[in-house]
This record gives sequence, structure tokens and C-alpha cells, in this order.
Amino acid sequence: MHSPERRQAIIVLDFGSQYSRLITRRVRECHVYSELVPASTTLAQLQQNTHLDIKGFILSGGPASVYDEQAPTCDPAILHSGLPVLGICYGMHLLAHQLGGHVAPASGRREYGPATLETFNDTTGDPRYFRIFEGIGASPAQTYPLDQPVTAKPVRIPVWMSHGDSIDKLPQGFNILACTESNPVTAIANVQGLVGLQFHPEVTHTPQGKTIIQNFLYRICGCDPTWTTGTVIEEAVEQIRQRVGKERVICGLSGGVDSAVTALLVHRAVGDQLTCVFVDTGCLRAGEPEQVVDTFARHLHIPLVVVDARQRFLARLADVIDPEQKRKIIGEEFIRVFEEEAARLEERGGPITFLAQGTLYPDVIESTSHDTATTATRIKTHHNVGGLPEEMTLNLVEPLRLLFKDEVREIGLALDLPEDWVWRHPFPGPGLAIRIIGAVDEERLDTLRAADAIVIEEIQHAGIYRELGQAFAVLTPLQSVGVMGDGRTYANVVAVRAVTTGDFMTADWARLSPDLLARISHRIVNEVPGVNRVVYDITSKPPATIEWE
Ligand code: XMP
Repeated sequence: MHSPERRQAIIVLDFGSQYSRLITRRVRECHVYSELVPASTTLAQLQQNTHLDIKGFILSGGPASVYDEQAPTCDPAILHSGLPVLGICYGMHLLAHQLGGHVAPASGRREYGPATLETFNDTTGDPRYFRIFEGIGASPAQTYPLDQPVTAKPVRIPVWMSHGDSIDKLPQGFNILACTESNPVTAIANVQGLVGLQFHPEVTHTPQGKTIIQNFLYRICGCDPTWTTGTVIEEAVEQIRQRVGKERVICGLSGGVDSAVTALLVHRAVGDQLTCVFVDTGCLRAGEPEQVVDTFARHLHIPLVVVDARQRFLARLADVIDPEQKRKIIGEEFIRVFEEEAARLEERGGPITFLAQGTLYPDVIESTSHDTATTATRIKTHHNVGGLPEEMTLNLVEPLRLLFKDEVREIGLALDLPEDWVWRHPFPGPGLAIRIIGAVDEERLDTLRAADAIVIEEIQHAGIYRELGQAFAVLTPLQSVGVMGDGRTYANVVAVRAVTTGDFMTADWARLSPDLLARISHRIVNEVPGVNRVVYDITSKPPATIEWE
């Protein structure tokens, strides 16, 4: 049997910067596996993971100052491990501070935003100092290919800064590589591969940041670019095979990309030992159940059970107004239906021991980082099929646990998941029930489904679907007066919501063109019975949330 080799990895220590995850993603975009761990993680703890061949560390930025009483520090064993370390911003200060240099507290001379970095002439006689800037030209267009080493010449490049403190005494063995107008120590390095950068190479505002990160990975850490979609799929499939053996697996499909890719990986690994279950709650979008059957059963040939549970969900939701109550009911009912179906499958085909679900890396990070778990206030109880197993006694298979959403999408494409599925906007587990403000019934669901389909159709037609984070219709509890033909109407108000967002934690309302809004409004009022008015939601998050309930 093929035994997966140890995977080369770069460990990112999270000192609380808003860019910490981004650093991990950037490293992975360079095809090197990377994990984000809390700042307090020790070298000994990391070495317990024998699957990883750690090639280097990145210390992220962070809001602290190295002289704060509670300032987080780095396990000294990491700095003395002999492995390369890249310190970014606070990470750089820590590197200098912990290795015997000195950091001057902010003296009112802060530097935020764009700056021009100027590298010094390499007079060290030792090209190892300048490896981090090798191949960097004065503009991205002048970047030299990585396989042609070019000794650093003085260049001026735009970089993104965000700091107050700065280094005024170097640790022994370090050299200064670059400065900016207001910061004489913008990049430092020693020959062993310890590098500090005052600017942020991980953000797109540092146009040559990617080359700088590649230099660290390939030239300084000696990584190979082997973390590719192909190897990720191969490894995941092999791991699922080993874990599941000859047992049966059940997987709940939600219609979203995560559960679909999970199912595809498990199916590739253990074939018909997998059965997917899709629950029609009655709160789905137009055409959704048909699309799931068409793609999974007919196109991908994955065994699929579709449960028509519309009546029981509707019965339990009758007259429920409170959004949290709706979420709770749908969550509970979902588990019940799922359990019943699992029992039925067991009666027919023997025991099921595994539940596959599409937990992603950001969820894993969220649950392991101490600060977010304790300080975050619960705004909404999120229900989705990912919340299933607590009440169930199945073992979990979570092949996406180490992946970011964009990596999951790439895998989906590589595994033949149709493109429109791969790029589909997220859809909340409770579905249309939380987009009908007030009581949910069949008639109101039909009204919203029809209006929502028009919103999506028009946005797709305008070619901007992928630019938006989410777009949908909301059925408000308002009735308003209108005039149609020669008659007075008194009918429903539909709100249209479209947002742009990176992480769904914050969002801005999308500046849809007036023509597009006019088409959407015109079609909804003319084609959806019971609606005579359409409004557009122009609120960002915060202060609003993306969904209305
Ligand atoms: P809000 O409305 O909190 O939404 O700004 C942020 C993201 O979460 C989705 N959302 C949910 N997803 N179950 C889910 O699976 C839920 O109960 C739920 N509520 C909100 C929302 O669609 C957006 O993507």
C-alpha cells in the first residue's frame, strides 16, 4: 500500500495579525503546504506531528508591542532550531528582540499604508544575506525567473507598511537589507536564514510580495512546490481509504460546494461504500433538488437517497416567527430525518460507521484559537449539515479539514463537479425559512422561490455572479398599495440583497447597475404573483448582517 511521505510544511505562528490566514494561503498558493498555529505553540509540540517535514517558520504580525506586559513571544527553540524563520512586522520585532537586538517603541513616527522600499547595495560579500530579495526588479514586470539567481541590486519597490515600533539595534550576525524614507531598518537577515521584514509581503498592495515569499520558500527553506491539487486529491483519497477500510459511509449533501467535494473524494476512495443523503426541507431554492439528483446520481453516479421531508418541516415551522426558533427547529428536524434515513439504510445494507462532512480549515482554526472562541458574541445560531454529528455515534471523515475554500473549489473542478456548482454562492442551512420574515408557509415559499430565481438569473445574465459574495431575495412581512392595469393592488414587498465580501464577516452592499436593478424589479413584479413592490437593501455588514434574520 502506498504510504504518504512526510509533507514539507511551513508553520505560520499567529500573533494576531488580521493577515495571518492570508500568509498561510499565500504560502499554499506557492504550492507549499502551510499550517496556522497559535503563537504559543512550541517546537516540541510541532514535532509531534510526524507527518510533517517542517522546512521553516513564519512569525505573523500582530497588534502588540514587544514591550507590552502581555506581549506574546515565540518559543526560543524555534528561533534556535536551525530552520529558517521569516518574521513579518511584529514577527520581525520579536525575532530581533528575542535574539538580543533592540526595538524602539513608537515615537509618534508611525508608518501605515504604501511606502517605497529601497534595497541597499550588497557589500556583504555573502549572497546568502540577500536571498529574500533575489530576482526582484524595480517593477513586477522586471522580476527575473526564479531559476536564474540574480544578486540583489539596489531597487525601489512599493510595499505595504503597518507599524509603530521599529528596530534600532540589530541582533548579532544580522545585516540591514533595505530601508524606507521613514524607517532605516525595513528588512534584516542573517546567513542562517532568519529574515525580518517590516512590511507585509502577503498583501496584494506589495506587488512583488509573492516573489519575496517564493524566495523564502524555495531559496531559503529549500521547499519544493509539490502541494498541488493533484497531490492533495491523491493524499486525501489514500487517507480516506485507510481510515474507512471496508465500512460504510454516509454523507449529507447540502447543495453547496463543501459537502459535494467531500462526497466526491469519499466516493473516489471507497466507491459504493458511500451513500449520500439529500434532505428536501421544502425551504430550498428553485430547481435545487432536481439539480442535486441530476449531478450526483445521473452525472457522477454516486448513490444518492433523496428524502422528501417538506411536509414535516412545514408542519413544524407553522406560525413560527422568531428566527432563532426557526433555526433550532430546522436543525433538530434535520438530525431526526437524517437519523431515520441512516437507520433505514442500515436495515437494508448493514451498519454505517462513518459520517463524511465538509468541515473547512477556517472552522478548524476558529475552534483551536483561544481568543476568538471566548470573545465572540453569538449573533446567530448557525445551522448547517456540518452541525450534524454531535447527537450521532458515527466516526467522522473530514477530508477538507486542512483546506481553504478556494482550494476546495479547485479540487471540485479537478473532480468534474460542474462549474456552476463550484462557484455557487453559500446558502444558509435553514434556507428560505430565514429569508421569509415572519411565518413560513407553502405559498410564501413559492413566492420567494420565484423572486429569488429571477434575481439569480438576472445577475448571471449580467455576468457578475462570481464578483458577488451572495445575492438573493427576501420576502418581507410588509404589504403595500400598488396599481396594476387599472386596479388597486395590496400585495407583498420583496427586498433584493446583493453583497460583496471576502470572508462573510464583513460585507458591503453591491453597487448593482440601475439597469440591472430595473430589470430585476420589473420581472419580479410582472412574473411573481402577489408581489407589487421591490426594494434594494443598501446596508453594509456591520451594522446589518447579510441575511435578514
Ligand atoms: P450573516 O447573516 O450572519 O451571514 O451576516 C454570514 C454568512 O452565514 C450564512 N448564514 C448561515 N449559514 N446556517 C448556515 O449554514 C445559518 O443559520 C446561517 N445564517 C447565516 C449567510 O448566508 C452568510 O453566508
